[in-house]
Amino acid sequence: MEILVKREEIAAAVARIGKQITHDFAGDSVVLVAVLKGACLFLSDLARQIELDATFDFIAVRSYGAKKHPAGEVQLIKDVTTPLRDRNIILVEDILDTGLTLTFLRKHLYQHQPRSLKIAALLDKPSRRVAAVQADYVGFQIPDKFVVGYGLDHAERFRNLPDICVLEEAGQE
Ligand code: IMP
Ligand code: MG
Repeated sequence: MEILVKREEIAAAVARIGKQITHDFAGDSVVLVAVLKGACLFLSDLARQIELDATFDFIAVRSYGAKKHPAGEVQLIKDVTTPLRDRNIILVEDILDTGLTLTFLRKHLYQHQPRSLKIAALLDKPSRRVAAVQADYVGFQIPDKFVVGYGLDHAERFRNLPDICVLEEAGQE
């Protein structure tokens, strides 16, 4: 598979984002909320680049409708367990594509009345956006290609690849 983002480039971007978060929340604590399963690798590397009082939590959603024709249907399948009221949440996601998932999750997490809510997305495909949502911390903007590796899957496979690769002929399903 063609490599789009090499492991060294990922590591550098993760370090840069970790530094930004450390700076932005200096003297404060953060709750890192990762979206299962794709963001697990990003979370584990990012967390080690954040020099703050930090805790983790996990959330999971299921999206309905084909990726090409987003129906806008996102369902929560696992909620956080941490009390988030008055906390600084960093929502950690692998990729921001149509934006439907993060729009749903942002709205859901705001119901917990956090003090702040920021989004960290390793990858961003701005050309695919349907819902108006932006990440506060972005690793890489990428073209409209289906990518796998470093947590990202196709039918649950390839999450363990250390580099981000373009999956040929997969198209946008
Ligand atoms: P959105 O709701 O369209 O922004 O979709 C976000 C979710 O779609 C991500 O969490 C991924 O699970 C999935 N996704 C979008 N683009 C890709 C890709 O290129 N490779 C793997 N998964 C993707
Ligand atoms: Mg995902």
